[in-house]
Amino acid sequence: MREEPKDFFVKDENGFYIYDVHHTGMNQRYEDYTTEDHQVWQILFDRQIAFLPGKVTDEYLKGIELVKFSREAIPNFEYVNKLLKNATGWNVYIVPGLIPNLAFFELMERKNFCATTWLRKMEQLDYLEEPDMFHDVFGHVPLLTNQNLCDFLVKLSKIALKHIDNEYIIECIGRLYWFTIEFGLIQEKDGLRIYGAGIVSSKGETEFSLYSDVPERLPYNVAQILQTSYHKDRYQEKYFVIDSFEQLYNSIEEIDMEIEKIAKNVLNYEL
Ligand SMILES: [Fe+2]
Repeated sequence: MREEPKDFFVKDENGFYIYDVHHTGMNQRYEDYTTEDHQVWQILFDRQIAFLPGKVTDEYLKGIELVKFSREAIPNFEYVNKLLKNATGWNVYIVPGLIPNLAFFELMERKNFCATTWLRKMEQLDYLEEPDMFHDVFGHVPLLTNQNLCDFLVKLSKIALKHIDNEYIIECIGRLYWFTIEFGLIQEKDGLRIYGAGIVSSKGETEFSLYSDVPERLPYNVAQILQTSYHKDRYQEKYFVIDSFEQLYNSIEEIDMEIEKIAKNVLNYEL
């Protein structure tokens, strides 16, 4: 984890430093991007954009037009946020790197999607240990124009916040986020498509998730996902396939119920 700027923290009533969710976000410092940074963006953008039609959900392609990403330059968040606000009321909120769960879900509940501003270097084009701006922005932001997906995120955050002190429940919610928002597939009328940002921002995993015989592709199933652990260092062994973003949104009640069940039966607590 990167060192977080001190002004992102405030003292709570006990004198501990906690993440300040009222912070208005960091500045992108757009002018600090170098020519090489813009070139890296261009290489990654060109590579994925040529490759995605016929593989990614139409909603993503519509979204990328709406937020006006282009190969010419790294997106300017101020401009992107104006467009996103008009579409769904969402906002790209700049953070220095991974942030605590509480802050992540509190921000998301208020329609803020956390993104970093740093971009991988030319020698890191294909492998990163931590998500960079290309993943956060190219991978996630276009689908933040889809209302069902946005509403799903708000409601999922509310469920997470109810159980924020319970590590196991947060892990389960992390699984749901992982197998949908990061690595989800969708069955569209023209065929199977990707929508998870972890796949959208990876050429290798796009092909693997859609065409390889190795992974299992299973119908979206909340109870099953909650019990399925994942790994971060290689392609997935299982992908879960939704029928529509509406289905994702409509599963929120079931998620809430299943989580309550886990809390009660496995962990023996009730809210
Ligand atoms: Fe992500």
